[in-house]
Amino acid sequence: MFAKKILCIGAGYVGGPTMAMIAMRCPHYKITVVDINDEKIARWNSNELPIYEPGLDEIVREVRGRNLFFSTDIEGEIRANDIIFVSVNTPTKTYGAGAGMAADLQYWEKTARQIRRCAQSNKVIIEKSTLPVRTALAMERILGAENNIHFEVLSNPEFLAEGSAIEDLQNPDRVLIGSRDTPTGVAARNELVDIFANWVPRERIITSNIWSSELSKLVANAFLAQRISSINAIASLCEKTEADVAEVARAVGLDSRIGTKFLNASVGFGGSCFKKDIMNLVYLCRSYGLNEAADYWEGVIKINECQKERFVLTMLRAMFNTLADKRICLFGFAFKANTGDTRESPAIYIARKLLEEQAVVVITDPKALENARRDLAGMKGEILFIDDPYEAAAASDALAVMTEWDLYKDLDFERIFDSMTKPAFIFDGRNILDRKKLFDMGFNIYAVGKPPMTHFA
Ligand code: UDX
Ligand code: ADP
Repeated sequence: MFAKKILCIGAGYVGGPTMAMIAMRCPHYKITVVDINDEKIARWNSNELPIYEPGLDEIVREVRGRNLFFSTDIEGEIRANDIIFVSVNTPTKTYGAGAGMAADLQYWEKTARQIRRCAQSNKVIIEKSTLPVRTALAMERILGAENNIHFEVLSNPEFLAEGSAIEDLQNPDRVLIGSRDTPTGVAARNELVDIFANWVPRERIITSNIWSSELSKLVANAFLAQRISSINAIASLCEKTEADVAEVARAVGLDSRIGTKFLNASVGFGGSCFKKDIMNLVYLCRSYGLNEAADYWEGVIKINECQKERFVLTMLRAMFNTLADKRICLFGFAFKANTGDTRESPAIYIARKLLEEQAVVVITDPKALENARRDLAGMKGEILFIDDPYEAAAASDALAVMTEWDLYKDLDFERIFDSMTKPAFIFDGRNILDRKKLFDMGFNIYAVGKPPMTHFA
């Protein structure tokens, strides 16, 4: 007999790993994860999980069938569980009012209605998905209508980053739980605190009112993205002045008030969260008439768009203002290393622009080729997807590093140089390669926020 039964609706990048961690850390609980996508559930039940995350396979192998179960019986599981995490997707709206900015809450609302329809006993509903502040109120209203069952809504935003999800879940900086300050709210909150206290030190489990909790998730992502846009804006200045952005970031970051993390200049940030959450924040500010605050945060997105554009312009200028028929190999397509996820990856934008310039685009990535194929489906021009980086680089005019996979740092670049068309170029969008060494081999090398090293007079 299990001490608790927990359900999670939504078996994606957040729901899957989070529930696997709870199952591993709490063998006395039974955890079930459901999804409307049958194929996804079938993959969670197979040896080929639907997402790649270091350490996840091992955990799922240990707990699946023991106290972690994946199912498509959403309604049955809603009836059977009284603690329900909701981690369905909340993408940016693509239509109607707020298109391109506001969160699309249709999946969220459908889930709320389904819970209300099926519930036969009191439930604690936990918002895991990132949502606009005050969504819990809408949730309470939907759940509360025409029903004598009590639903207590909590906010418990997930701060894990992809690629390090297991480590982040295992050892989080903090767990945040927002609740109503009513007796039922506090009781539900304590129940959730007890779940995390199975492995997270109590002092790292913080509680707040429900609105602060919803808003904190948006703000954390906005601050993180702002750091990257700040350093990327400085990178553009470094390229003009012979300053080196890595040296600047080091000097600045060692001020303990600023800190060293998230100051890596890059081709631009990607991922499913940053743009979406900042646009969501911008939309919220605008809808409360806070236009200056909205403009301020929108600036973070604008710098990021500029950074991607700048990268392609650097390529174009360096390669004599024409890319037509040139073969350009993208090293990496995922939005960051250690994931196969390509949502909002800068590589999508770069590939599209290169195709518009009539370049031949070759894409290689250890985990993301399946998603890359989907992202670029239907795009005009010649695109090749090749697993082996040496084969992908052969006969190329240029390599462009899109993702900071470790494997690209340790390649045999002498061999790659010999196989490429000359003059051979490298554009390092992640500043992971040894510029001096590559320059000495004969490459012309451009990195973000650093003076170019070329063999041209
Ligand atoms: C982010 C937040 O970190 C996480 O807390 C939240 O729960 C979800 O959103 P994620 O999008 O998975 O996580 O990845 P993150 O590590 O934040 O990287 C986002 C993007 O920024 C990536 O494209 C990454 O390559 C880029 N990045 C990150 C930089 O360009 N420079 C940096 O210094 C750090
Ligand atoms: P995230 O990165 O936030 O985890 P994902 O898109 O990876 O987002 O995962 C969200 C999951 O929620 C998807 O697998 C999707 O099929 C699922 N989902 C969406 N709507 C519902 C619903 N009404 N019931 C169950 N699952 C849903």
